[in-house]
Amino acid sequence: MSSGPSVVYQIYPRSFLDTTGSGVGDLDGVTARLDHLRWLGVDALWLSPVYPSPGVDGGYDVADHRDVDTAFGGLPALDRLLAAAHERGLRVLLDWVPNHTSDAHPWFVSSCRDPAGPHGDWYWWADEPASNWRSAFGGPAWTRHPVRGQYYLHLFTPAQPDLNWNRPGVRAAMLDGLRFWLDRGVDGFRADVVHLIGRDPALPDLADPDPANPNDLVGRYRDPRTHDLLREIRAVLDAYPDRFLVGEVPLADAAAIPSYVDSTQLHRAFDFSLMEADWSAAAWRSAIAAAEAAYGPERAPAWALSSHDQPRHRTRHGGRADRARVAACVLLTLRGTPFLYAGEELGLTDPALSPAQRVDPLGRDGSRAPVPWTPGPGHGWASPDPWLPWPPSAATRNAATRRADPGSILWLYRRLISLRRQQPALRDGDLTLLDAPDGVLAYRRGALAVRANFTDVPVPVAQRGRVLLSSGPAGPDDGELPPCTAIVSA
Ligand code: NOJ
Repeated sequence: MSSGPSVVYQIYPRSFLDTTGSGVGDLDGVTARLDHLRWLGVDALWLSPVYPSPGVDGGYDVADHRDVDTAFGGLPALDRLLAAAHERGLRVLLDWVPNHTSDAHPWFVSSCRDPAGPHGDWYWWADEPASNWRSAFGGPAWTRHPVRGQYYLHLFTPAQPDLNWNRPGVRAAMLDGLRFWLDRGVDGFRADVVHLIGRDPALPDLADPDPANPNDLVGRYRDPRTHDLLREIRAVLDAYPDRFLVGEVPLADAAAIPSYVDSTQLHRAFDFSLMEADWSAAAWRSAIAAAEAAYGPERAPAWALSSHDQPRHRTRHGGRADRARVAACVLLTLRGTPFLYAGEELGLTDPALSPAQRVDPLGRDGSRAPVPWTPGPGHGWASPDPWLPWPPSAATRNAATRRADPGSILWLYRRLISLRRQQPALRDGDLTLLDAPDGVLAYRRGALAVRANFTDVPVPVAQRGRVLLSSGPAGPDDGELPPCTAIVSA
C-alpha cells in the first residue's frame, strides 16, 4: 500500500503570510514561501480550509465546497499555488470537511426554506431534540431553526449543521466535490472528524454519558457505516494516480483507530497521543507502544505534536527550546507519517491573548498566531498589524534569523528530514522499543538507534554508537546522554 508523502507540513492559511495588506494570510503568501518548504525538505503541505466561510469555526464552517474564499485570493490563487508546488515536487492536500457545512451553505438555506425540496432531508431535522447528544463546543447538539420551525443536529457550533450521509444526494454531492479538486490537480485531502459521517438513523442516545466531559461525543462516537462510506470516498481518490487521504479519527478508544486505515479506506489516520502526553519518557514511550501495538508492522499512524487546535508543543512543554528540539527528533524518527505544524520549525510558542484578542469560540487562537518571516517590523507580512498578535520573540524566532544560524532549531528540522530521506529504515523500517534508564526513551529503527533524555540531568547509557544527529551539542561517547538531548546513532 502506498504510504503517501514522507513528511507533511500543515499550514493554517490565515496565519502563514499576508501579501495584500489585509492582515490575513492568503494563498499567494503560501506560494511565496514554497522555497522555505523545499529547503526544509518536506514533500507535501496540507492547507486548513480555504473555502468561502463565515469563519465561525475558523473555516471549518464551509459555505461552498467548490470555491476558495476571496480573502485567500480565490480559485486563481489556488491554481497558482498548485502549479508552483508541483514544479517544486511538493504535493498539496486540502482540508475536507464532510461531517457538516456552514449554516450559510446554500444546501442548508434551501433545507430550511423548503423541507419538501431537493435539500429538505440533507441535514438531520426533528420536531424535538431527537437524542441526548451534546455539541463539542458546549450545550445541546440540537438547535431550533426559526424558519423551518424544527430542530437540526450540530455536533459542533450551531453554525455547523451536520450533513445526513444516509441520503444518496448528500453522498453524490460530497463525492463530486472531491472530484472537483482532484480534477484541478489537488493531491489528496485531510478529512475532518471523518469517523462521524456514518450514522444510525435512529440517533440512539449515548449509552455511556461521560460525567467528566459531557460534551465529548466526538471521541466516543463510532458507527460501522463510516467504514462503507470511507470505501466510497477512497474509490473516488483511487480513480486518480497517487492521491493521499489522511483522516482525523479522534476516538477515545485509540486502539480502534487503525480499523479505519487500510488499502480501501484511509491511507493514514492521526495519532494525537503525543499531543496529550506530559513531558516524560514514560508517557511518550507508552503512546508509541500503544500505536505500535494497535497498528502492527504493516500499517502506521500520522503523528503530530502541534496543530491549529492545540497550544504549540513548545508552549505545552514549559516554553523550553531544548524540549522542542528533543520532540522534533522523536517526531521525525517515528514509524508512519510525521505532520509538522507551520512555525514549529522556528521554535514558536503561543502569545498570551487578552479576551478581546480572542477570535475562536474555544480559545484555540494561540497556535494560530501569525508566522514571522523576517526580524523587522511586520515580519515580512504586508500588513504590520495582522489578525492575531505575533508570537513571542518574533524578532529572533523568525525564518530569516533562524536560517542564518546553522545551530538553530530550523536547521535541526532540516537535518532530521534529510536524515529521514537518506535512511529508509527511518521511513519504512520496524520500530523496536528498547529498555532504557528512567527518563530516557529509546528505540531502534533498523540499524539506527534513537535515545531521548527527557530529564535535566545526564543519564548513563551503554554504547551510544556513532552519532548521526543530536538535538544538542553531542560530546564524545563518554557513556552519557546529556541533559534534555536526543541522539540518533548508528
Ligand atoms: C477538527 C478541526 O481540526 C477543528 O478545528 C474543528 O473545530 C472541528 N474539527 C470541527 O470541524
